[in-house]
Amino acid sequence: MDFSDPRMVEIFFSIHSDLPREGPGSRATTEKALALCGPLPEDARVLDIGCGPGQQTMDLAELLPGATITAIDNHPPFVDEANRRAKAAGVDDRVKAKVGDMTALDVEPASLDLIWCEGAAYSMGVDAALKAWKPLLKPGGRLALSEAVWLKANPPDDLRRFWDEEYPDMRDVPACRDLVASCGYSLLGDFVLPDSAWWDDYYTPQLARIETLRPTYAGDATALAVLDEAVEESELHRTHGDYYGYVFLVMAVD
Ligand SMILES: C[S@@+](CC[C@H](N)C(=O)[O-])C[C@H]1O[C@@H](n2cnc3c(N)ncnc32)[C@H](O)[C@@H]1O
Repeated sequence: MDFSDPRMVEIFFSIHSDLPREGPGSRATTEKALALCGPLPEDARVLDIGCGPGQQTMDLAELLPGATITAIDNHPPFVDEANRRAKAAGVDDRVKAKVGDMTALDVEPASLDLIWCEGAAYSMGVDAALKAWKPLLKPGGRLALSEAVWLKANPPDDLRRFWDEEYPDMRDVPACRDLVASCGYSLLGDFVLPDSAWWDDYYTPQLARIETLRPTYAGDATALAVLDEAVEESELHRTHGDYYGYVFLVMAVD
């Protein structure tokens, strides 16, 4: 998709608005990754990067009731939605979302106990993210991120073509583990997200949204092609989801 074309961006966000979340994940996988972090200070300072509409932000807020959480995203409507959810849950005194750029974070060095990032580090490159965010963590601080990975070699041609376009640098799990070590972190654990994390809060509501948009875009070939592309992406996952997935990597600063 051409994100330099404002019309395409508008159609894209007509799909990607008011959805539970904007990438694979679930309450259960956030909780499992947090457990791998081990004990955190009662009053932990947490940064959730690429928070989207804030589903994992809210899960973290509930799971870490003494923590102060800042969530950042560069798409203002997602930030508004994350703040709305924090207010609705009555945690807006300690959970705040802000517009920000993950490549230029306005954060004091060595000030964070935990950096969280579900499905967003790829947009600056996970290697660049691991390097850039490390100085922001306190000694012994934790970083947990989820990342798209190959799970099997020799993918079918249609799947290879899709990922060559979407994320040509996608690694496999061993390569992610090597990267974590080479960037000066100790891996505390990792796991591949179950298939339900792709469907329940991500593709299923997205597909329902797409069907509600079809009448609005009737006769608009450009818009309908964008909708079809999103449906095809979920169909690729349905048919070839055993070849790729998301891994949660949980690490500590060495
Ligand atoms: C795949 S979505 C994941 C959102 C959320 N973590 C979730 O799982 O629902 C990636 C998010 O990263 C945000 N993003 C992309 N580039 C960014 C940047 N440079 N700085 C901050 N956020 C960015 C997008 O706006 C989007 O909300």
